[in-house]
Amino acid sequence: MERLQKVISECGVASRRKAEELIKDGKVKVNGKVVREMGIKVSSEDYIEVNGKGLTQSTKKYYLLYKPREVISSASDDKGRKTVVDLIKTNDRIYPIGRLDYDTTGIILLTNDGELSNHLTHPSHNIEKEYLAKVKGFFKKEDAISLSNGIILEGKKTKPALFKMDRYDKKTDSSYVKVVITEGRNHQVKNMFKALNYDVQKLKRERYAFLDLSGLKSGEYRQLSIKEVKQLYSLK
Ligand code: URA
Repeated sequence: MERLQKVISECGVASRRKAEELIKDGKVKVNGKVVREMGIKVSSEDYIEVNGKGLTQSTKKYYLLYKPREVISSASDDKGRKTVVDLIKTNDRIYPIGRLDYDTTGIILLTNDGELSNHLTHPSHNIEKEYLAKVKGFFKKEDAISLSNGIILEGKKTKPALFKMDRYDKKTDSSYVKVVITEGRNHQVKNMFKALNYDVQKLKRERYAFLDLSGLKSGEYRQLSIKEVKQLYSLK
């Protein structure tokens, strides 16, 4: 169940504020009855009309989650560990788009829209994913160049990427490295560093295409707007 004004705005017919005005002005009907009361909750079964026009409620849901550590990126876990889906209050059968490791933090999208999920994970679509990695030791310039140009991993060269030293922390003898990759191979960032003898101590995904973690704390999430979903569909 969701608030009527939220459902109206999610259908793209009006902003949340405009939807509230429409409700106040008696322009909204739920199951044939005018509703002027603010904040009533409706479900996808309810028939909503705005200015006499019926809405087609989308049953598709899209969430952006700031994944904490020690949460698994799947819909269920046979070892009973907490999953990314457990962190989202919904009865919809959503699942994550792609994966982050158990100990990786940061941005992950969840949806029940298989078409978008296939679109974004298709290997021919070079979706940028940006990470901040903390690695042991000093990250050498020549290694940044090698990793950016591509190295052989499991017999296949990695696509051009960006590996760039952000800062070196003398106290802990560790480097913070910005990484932008467009592939999504298993443990790709860790394995690329490992191939050049660097141990990843922390990994955080800070950006997925044009989406980042602005306004969210670890464990928090928000729904994507229709505009954002359209933008994701238009990525090639
Ligand atoms: N690369 C990794 O090694 N781990 C992740 O979680 C994501 C990318």
